[in-house]
Amino acid sequence: MSGWNASDIPDQSGRGAVVTGANSGIGYVTARELARAGARVVLACRSAERGGAAVDRLRAEVPGADVEFGALDLGDLGSVREFAGTWTGRPLDLLVNNAGVMALPYGRTADGFETQFGVNHLGHFALTGLLLPSLLDAAAPRVVSVSSGLHALANIDIDDLNSEKQYRRWVAYGRSKTANLLFVHELARRAADAGLVAAAAHPGYAATSLQARGAQMEGRKGAERFYEVGNRVFAQPAETGALPTLHAATAPGVRSDDFYGPRVMMWRGAPARSWRASWTVNDVAGERLWAASERLTGVTYEGLKG
Ligand SMILES: NC(=O)c1ccc[n+]([C@@H]2O[C@H](COP(=O)([O-])OP(=O)(O)OC[C@H]3O[C@@H](n4cnc5c(N)ncnc54)[C@H](OP(=O)(O)O)[C@@H]3O)[C@@H](O)[C@H]2O)c1
Repeated sequence: MSGWNASDIPDQSGRGAVVTGANSGIGYVTARELARAGARVVLACRSAERGGAAVDRLRAEVPGADVEFGALDLGDLGSVREFAGTWTGRPLDLLVNNAGVMALPYGRTADGFETQFGVNHLGHFALTGLLLPSLLDAAAPRVVSVSSGLHALANIDIDDLNSEKQYRRWVAYGRSKTANLLFVHELARRAADAGLVAAAAHPGYAATSLQARGAQMEGRKGAERFYEVGNRVFAQPAETGALPTLHAATAPGVRSDDFYGPRVMMWRGAPARSWRASWTVNDVAGERLWAASERLTGVTYEGLKG
C-alpha cells in the first residue's frame, strides 16, 4: 500500500459505480478517478445544477469519460427511492456512500430525522438497501462508506438517535460518522456469504466546502473565515483526501470491514489502515442500529442473513 495513489487504481472497464455527493470535494475526485480508470459512473447529487456542472467539468478533465448525473437527495427518502428505482435490472459493481454534512445548526430532513443523522447515515442506509439487489447481481460488488476521524467525538445514543434530548452539532456529527462505521461493520457481517465487500474510508483533513457550510447557513462570517484559513494552512487537497476512498473502492486485497485513512496521524498522506474507536466494532450496537435504521426508513435488506 506504500505511497498508493490514483495511478494505482486497477482497470475499471465494465464496472458501474454510483458516487453520492459527487459534485464537489472528495466525491468529485472519487467519481473522476473511477471514470478515468474506465468505470461508468453516476454522479448522484441533490442539485441538478451543481451535478450537471460537475459532469461537464469531469468530461472536460477526462475526455471520453462515461459519466452521468443522477438526482438524489439523501435528506428525502422519497428521492432515495426514486433514484434507486432508476437502477433496477442493471448490476451495480460499486456504491460509494460519500455525501455528507458537518456540524450544521439543528435541522430536520424531509422525513423528520435530525439532518446529520438523516443525511449521513439513514439516507445511505436506505440507498444501499434499495440498491442491494443490483449490487448482489454484480460479480464482485463493493460498498464504501466515507466516515471521519471525528467519529471519535461520540458513540451513538441508541435511545436518542435524532438528538432530541440535547443537540450539540459536533456530537451529532461524531455520532453520524460512528453510525457510518457501525453500518459497515454490520453490513460486512450480514453480507459475508453474499460476496459483497463493505469497507470504510476517511479523508483525514481535506480542504472542501464541508467545513464552512454550517457557518455560511448561519451567516457567521468570522467562523467562515476561520475555516477558510484552516483549510489553506492545515488541510490536504481533496485530490489526496479521496485516495483512501479510492483505495477501499478498487484495490485488490481490501477486506470487508476494513477502514482506510491517511497514514500520517490520520490527517494527511497516502492511504493506510486506520485506527477506529472500539465502539465502532461492537456487534450489539451494530445490530441495534441496523434494526432502528430499518424501522425508521422502512427499508429492509432482502437476501442477506439477519
Ligand atoms: N473534508 C474533510 O476534511 C472531511 C473529513 C472527514 C470526513 N469527511 C467526509 O467526506 C465526505 C465528503 O465531504 P467533502 O469533504 O468532500 O465535502 P463537500 O465538498 O461539502 O461534499 C459533500 C457532498 O455531499 C453532498 N450532500 C450534502 N447533503 C446532501 C443530501 N441531502 N443529498 C445528497 N447529497 C448531499 C453535497 O452536495 P451539495 O453541494 O449540494 O451541498 C456535496 O456534494 C463527507 O461524508 C464528510 O463527512 C470529510
